[in-house]
Amino acid sequence: MSAVAWSAAQGGGLTPTTPKRGGNPAAAKVANPVPATPASVAAGRKTYMLLCSRCHGPSGQGDGGGAGAGGQPADFTDDVWDFGSSDGEIFAAIQQGTSADMDSYAERISAAETWNLVNYLKSLRP
Ligand code: HEC
Repeated sequence: MSAVAWSAAQGGGLTPTTPKRGGNPAAAKVANPVPATPASVAAGRKTYMLLCSRCHGPSGQGDGGGAGAGGQPADFTDDVWDFGSSDGEIFAAIQQGTSADMDSYAERISAAETWNLVNYLKSLRP
């Protein structure tokens, strides 16, 4: 996966890794290049608190209240992943977005930082 491939996705067009309800096998094949070290999880948490907690809640339970378009923010402390539970699918959901509330973050968060977020979200699993 290259930065170029991801920037091509930013136009909002469909790509092979575009998130799908129920999961996307092509996205699932994208391997996480960032080991889930304590440093990576801590970096992901910092970005989460800044950009994600207003909807997904301070502890990830989907109770932040900030979803203006009426969507229900995902609860990261249950083990339900509407768009797939693999690292690659979670990465795709963040980078490409899934709904009016769950916007694409590709222009705001680098790929490396998004993998830190993936590692943080996975640390919240039961
Ligand atoms: C404006 C509110 C809002 C913000 C801010 C937001 N989200 Fe979301 N998020 C949602 C909603 C609503 C959904 C459910 C979307 C759907 O069902 O299509 C969602 C879904 C997701 C999913 C898919 C979960 C699954 O079950 O497969 C992931 C991953 C995710 N968000 C991560 C993040 C991260 C990481 C950030 C911060 C960079 C973030 N979100 C910021 C509202 C938000």
